[in-house]
Amino acid sequence: MKRIKLAPPGPEFSRMVYGTWRIFDTKPTAQEINRRLHTCLELGITTIDTAEIYGLYEVEEVLGTALALSPGLRDKFELVTKAGIYVPCSHHPACRTAHYNATGPQLLKSLESSLRLLGTDHVELFLAHRPDWLTRADDTAAGLNEMLRTGKIRVAGVSNYSVSQLDLLNAHMEQPLVTNQIEFHLLHPEPINDGTLNQCEKLGVRPMAWSPLAGGRIFDPANPAAPRLAAAAKSMAARYNGATLEQLAYAWILAHPSHPLPVIGTNKLERLQSAAQADAIVLEREDWYALWEAAQGRKIP
Ligand SMILES: NC(=O)c1ccc[n+]([C@@H]2O[C@H](COP(=O)([O-])OP(=O)(O)OC[C@H]3O[C@@H](n4cnc5c(N)ncnc54)[C@H](OP(=O)(O)O)[C@@H]3O)[C@@H](O)[C@H]2O)c1
Repeated sequence: MKRIKLAPPGPEFSRMVYGTWRIFDTKPTAQEINRRLHTCLELGITTIDTAEIYGLYEVEEVLGTALALSPGLRDKFELVTKAGIYVPCSHHPACRTAHYNATGPQLLKSLESSLRLLGTDHVELFLAHRPDWLTRADDTAAGLNEMLRTGKIRVAGVSNYSVSQLDLLNAHMEQPLVTNQIEFHLLHPEPINDGTLNQCEKLGVRPMAWSPLAGGRIFDPANPAAPRLAAAAKSMAARYNGATLEQLAYAWILAHPSHPLPVIGTNKLERLQSAAQADAIVLEREDWYALWEAAQGRKIP
């Protein structure tokens, strides 16, 4: 697995990241998650993406327990967490309505909770999970700057921010933001043309691409793009050592010149292994466009 610097000063992450949003789908024990973490390391995937809200605020604790099962394991990973989304549930009994809160004090409080649950004194990267429409950028930045000053996070970034929202927040940061984690995949290519990926390229920061397989929709027979993508993948597989649609979908993201880091979401070890091989695939230009056409169901303009 290749490695890549998220921004010129770092940090360095694995080219593909393991995401923990769906980790409870198969109800794994901490031991099983611990085994999955070891598999990640064997594959060279050293960056783990999580968030305060995952598993309705319960994933970080299980991840922390799984990390603690092997002494020294935490230090082999770069941990990414995010905060700022609050929904009514037993962990937020006073919450009436789902809402965003990216005020500095709230983000600081959430980070403290994440560090405690993950069993660590710092994370490598902290992201404001969603832009909060009711918070001034200087307020969010004050929280992120405080995290950076105390060393509880090494670098800060955002997720799901528009180009202008990222610019505005950056203007208040003491250290520039290092990423925008966004939805980017064959069924959601919009970041190519809405300025999001161009902004990352211009700033010299790497985007992180969530739901790289469209949450599994690229395989869903009910999705009209799925058979077209399957046929396109089959037609080009021989040029890439028999690569599967799954691997070509990752390679399609990796090929974009802004150098996105796909965040893998599978719970299956064999799919994790096959995903990790995708970073060696260099898609030919015409195949990249052929996959775009198959996904969109139309010719390029
Ligand atoms: N920042 C944000 O707002 C945000 C939002 C969403 C996600 N994320 C991050 O991105 C990560 C990945 O997102 P994601 O889970 O949506 O990623 P994804 O890789 O697009 O989707 C994973 C889903 O696709 C299924 N899948 C994989 N290969 C398949 C195949 N060959 N056939 C059928 N189904 C297949 C998986 O099932 P199996 O488990 O059975 O393989 C799983 O349910 C998350 O864990 C999280 O860390 C961030």
